Amino acid sequence: MSTVRDLQAKAGEEPITMLTAYDAPTASLVDEADVDVILVGDSVGNTSLGYETTLPVTVDDMARHVGAVSRATDEALVVADMPFLSFGVDQPSSIENAGRLIKDAGAEAVKLECGPHTVDLTERLVQLGIPVMSHLGLTPQHVNQYGGYPRQGTDQDAAERILELAVAHEEAGAFSLVLEHVPSNLAAEVTEALETPTIGIGAGPDCDGQVLVVDDVIGLSDWSPSFSKQFGDVRSEIETAVSEYVTAVETGTFPAEEHSHEQDDLEKLY
Ligand code: KIV
Ligand code: NA
Repeated sequence: MSTVRDLQAKAGEEPITMLTAYDAPTASLVDEADVDVILVGDSVGNTSLGYETTLPVTVDDMARHVGAVSRATDEALVVADMPFLSFGVDQPSSIENAGRLIKDAGAEAVKLECGPHTVDLTERLVQLGIPVMSHLGLTPQHVNQYGGYPRQGTDQDAAERILELAVAHEEAGAFSLVLEHVPSNLAAEVTEALETPTIGIGAGPDCDGQVLVVDDVIGLSDWSPSFSKQFGDVRSEIETAVSEYVTAVETGTFPAEEHSHEQDDLEKLY
């Protein structure tokens, strides 16, 4: 059983591995591969629910997927993303929503897309016993502000704001920080400045760990960002299997003798 403490102990010693998962079979495969952290990302909106962005994802959606993942995970730390507007609007509803993902769904920590508005919330959640992973750099819930998914922290002011917010969230008690799509020298600097582990995605090699979307890693996504890497080709496996099934049924080679069972003592019914 991986805990937030195990993760902190690993930081700087060995690279931390993190992958998303959204369903039980994928989570159990990821867990069996000894991944340290499984993130039930709000990227479930894109990967599994057919949305263009993460914005429509609800706490109910997250709770359902977090439940599936935590039931299938024995070793990895399960972190649940808090979806758009489920946190940061006001403290009582933020705490209630985080509580649902922990108490009801079975996550062990939540991740928040951070800004100046999540420092106090992080402190409060940690006081209550809910570990918080912060997330800075590209925060996809701001897609309408960005007008896309551009790299963040590319000028001096923006880089300083990211560093300051990283430190502020660590001081508020966050146990780890995801840095998404920022220059690698900025990620290296933030990693250097923090005690707690940084986990990068599109943030270069100098973070304490790396995270990717599992669909991108296994080659299931029909699109993936340039900073991710496809390590498999599940899409073509599925295409081949499904089209072979269709052909087999259409040509009568499936089901064959070995897939069919005659009952000896059954009389003709007509
Ligand atoms: O939702 C997600 O998958 C994420 C990771 C890309 C960090 O937030
Ligand atoms: Na996310």
